[in-house]
Amino acid sequence: MQLYFLGRMFRFSLIVIAILIAAGIILFPYIENIAILMAALFFVYFAFMLVLYYMIEIYIKPMTKITKTVDQLLEGNYHARTQGVIKGKVGELSDKINQLARHLSEITLQEQIQSEQLSTVIENSESGLVLIDEKGYIHLVNRKFASMFGKEVKDYIGYLYYDVIDNEQMQTTVQETFLSGQRVKDVVTMDGDGPKKYYEIIAAPIFNELNMLKGIVLVIYDITELKQVETMRKDFVANVSHELKTPVTSIRGFAETLLDGAHEDVETRNHFLEIIFKESKRIQHLIEDLLILSKMEKDEPQMVITEVHLDHLLEEMMPMFKQRAEEKHIQLEVRNDKVVFEADEDKVKQILLNLFTNAVNYTPENGKVAITLKQVDEFALIEVKDTGIGIEKEALPRIFERFYRVDKDRSRMTGGTGLGLAIVKHIVEAHQGKIEVASEVNKGSTFSVYLPLKHPSGT
Ligand SMILES: Nc1ncnc2c1ncn2[C@@H]1O[C@H](COP(=O)(O)OP(=O)(O)OP(=O)(O)O)[C@@H](O)[C@H]1O
Ligand SMILES: [Mg+2]
Repeated sequence: MQLYFLGRMFRFSLIVIAILIAAGIILFPYIENIAILMAALFFVYFAFMLVLYYMIEIYIKPMTKITKTVDQLLEGNYHARTQGVIKGKVGELSDKINQLARHLSEITLQEQIQSEQLSTVIENSESGLVLIDEKGYIHLVNRKFASMFGKEVKDYIGYLYYDVIDNEQMQTTVQETFLSGQRVKDVVTMDGDGPKKYYEIIAAPIFNELNMLKGIVLVIYDITELKQVETMRKDFVANVSHELKTPVTSIRGFAETLLDGAHEDVETRNHFLEIIFKESKRIQHLIEDLLILSKMEKDEPQMVITEVHLDHLLEEMMPMFKQRAEEKHIQLEVRNDKVVFEADEDKVKQILLNLFTNAVNYTPENGKVAITLKQVDEFALIEVKDTGIGIEKEALPRIFERFYRVDKDRSRMTGGTGLGLAIVKHIVEAHQGKIEVASEVNKGSTFSVYLPLKHPSGT
C-alpha cells in the first residue's frame, strides 16, 4: 500500500515538473522579463508543493500507519491498533480496521478459552483417550492413557499405533474398527506387576463430510473395581450355596435313612433327629446372619440411635454368657464400668454376642475369657479377651471378610459360617467406630471395639 502511494507521489512530481516546463515554454514569448517568469513559475511550483504536503499529511502518513497495523494483524498480532486521531475518510477506514482488530482479538480469545477448556477436560478425564488418524498415526493421547501403561504422552504422539500400543487385544480392536468402520467395544485384561487390571475399550470411527474414514477415537475405562465387585458377588452366591448345601445334604441323608427304617431303633432315631435339629439350626443361623448382613450393607443401614447404658446391657446378657462359659468350664471375668453413649442398642448387643461367642468357641476348656466395658477418651470401649487358640498373623487381615474362617472344619464344628466378624465390622463402621485385634497363636486374642460416645447423626 505504501509503495502504491510512493509510486503515485513520483508520478505527481513528474507531472508537476512537466507542467512547470510547459508553463515556462508557453509564457516565455509573452513575458520578456525573465525574473517575472521565474517568479510566476516558482509561485506555481510552491502551490503544487503545498498540495503535495497536504496530500502527504492527510493521506500518505495515516495510510502508512494503517498499512503497518494491517501487516501486524496479518502476522497474528490482534492487539495491534492504529494510533492517533485521523480525520476524514481515512479516519473512518482506520476506525473500521480498529473495530475489525477488536473482533479478531475477541474471537481468538474465545477460541483460546474453548481449546483450553477442551484440553483440560481431555487431560483430567478419568478415561484414557487416543486419537488415531486414517494412516494409523497417533495424534492425541491424554495423560490418563499414558499412565495406564506406565508411559508418557510423548512416547505415543506421532507414532504408528501398532508400534507403541503394546497390548495385542487393544491393537486388534483398533484394526477391527478400521476394517469395519463400526464402533467396537471390548474388555482388555492386563497382568502387570500388581494385581490383574481390567479395561473396557470403545473404539469409534470418525468420518468426514464425504463419509470417508478419517481416523479412530479410542476411549479406555479402568473397570477393575467393577470386576472385583462382580467377582465378590459371584463368590458370595457360591459361598452361600456351598454353606447351605452341607446341612441340607446332611438333613436329607438322615431323613432318608430314618424313612428307610432306621426310625424303628429308638436310639438311632434320636441320634439322627438330633443331627437334623442341629443342622436345621445351622441353616437358620446362616439365614439370620445373611439377613443382618444384607441390612447392614445397605448404603444407609437402618439404625435406631438411643442412649445406651453399656453396663445395663451387659448385665442383661450375663446370665446367657455365664451359662455358655460354664458349659465349657471357661472362667469368665468382667469389668463393667458405667458407660453411657449414643448407639443402636440391638446392634451393640450383636457385637458383644458375636465377640463373646467367638471367644468361647475358639478357647479350649478351662480357658479364660475377659469382657471389659469402659470409657476411653471420646469412645466407649468393648474389649473381649480370651486365652484361646489365637489367629495366625497372615490370617488376621482376612477374618473380617464374609465366610472367611481360619480353620474351616473347626469353625463348622462350632456351627460357624464365617459371617460373625463381617457383621461386627459393618456395625462398627455404621457407628463410625473402629475395631482392633491383637492375637498370638496358642496364647489368645483380644478384640477391641471403639464406638464414639456421640453418634455423628445425633439422637
Ligand atoms: N477369638 C478368636 N480366636 C481365634 N480365632 C478367631 C476368634 N474370633 C474369630 N476367629 C477366627 O476368625 C474366623 C471368622 O470369625 P467369624 O466370627 O466371622 O466366623 P465364625 O465364628 O467362623 O462363624 P459365625 O458366623 O458363626 O460367627 C473364625 O472362623 C476363626 O477362624
Ligand atoms: Mg463367630
